[in-house]
Amino acid sequence: MRFLKACLFDLDGVLCNTAKYHFIAWKKLADRLGISFTERDNERLKGVSRMESLEILLSLGKKQYSPEEKRKMAAEKNGNYLALIRKMTRDEILPGAVDFLQYVRSRGIRTSLGSVSKNAGVILERTGLGRFFDSIVDGNRVTRAKPDPEVFLTGARDLGIPPENCAVFEDAQSGLIAARRAGMARIGIGNPEILTAAEFCIPGFSSMAPEKLLARIESAMEKRQKGA
Ligand code: BG6
Ligand code: MG
Repeated sequence: MRFLKACLFDLDGVLCNTAKYHFIAWKKLADRLGISFTERDNERLKGVSRMESLEILLSLGKKQYSPEEKRKMAAEKNGNYLALIRKMTRDEILPGAVDFLQYVRSRGIRTSLGSVSKNAGVILERTGLGRFFDSIVDGNRVTRAKPDPEVFLTGARDLGIPPENCAVFEDAQSGLIAARRAGMARIGIGNPEILTAAEFCIPGFSSMAPEKLLARIESAMEKRQKGA
């Protein structure tokens, strides 16, 4: 690989199916508050911090709440969420993710986790995914959530790799915008109609052989660098 030197992975919805647990936990709070909250609404919360997510959810309702009430609601959602992720097992790692991580590392490409979740540590521990990363950047290390590029720029700095040699894997439009601002290649995991900031999308890591995926990223990076 001439251009690709590091792969940076979002966690929730990319390596494991925790995006669904975030939705279930927010939905439980929304139901209690009498706010209608759909999976489509939930797209706007992906990659966004806990408090910003709460503000988006509350904007779907009519009532105003005090900062103290909001703090309690965020804690309630996190309680709902922790109850779900504390029961996770390695079976909840998304198909193909471990094979891809192992393949990438066997080719000498460095890896970083780039999540704004403060709960990433629990998930890495429950699933055993932590050992596949040279750098771990989570919500306890950064102050600005996606679409700010801080999470990915911190990962690249940890690895000592320039942003133009990094590729980001993301299931959220906010995360892809963060990667674009960081000057990195962008692979969307999911629907290309939603993930318009991706250079290309795949349905998941099991949809393509690891060597083919790396070749596709390398060629996208080469094109970009030649065009620059
Ligand atoms: C991101 C999720 O990974 O973490 C967001 O995509 C979530 O939906 C954010 O709001 C913060 O997570 P947590 O676990 O710190 O509340
Ligand atoms: Mg995600």
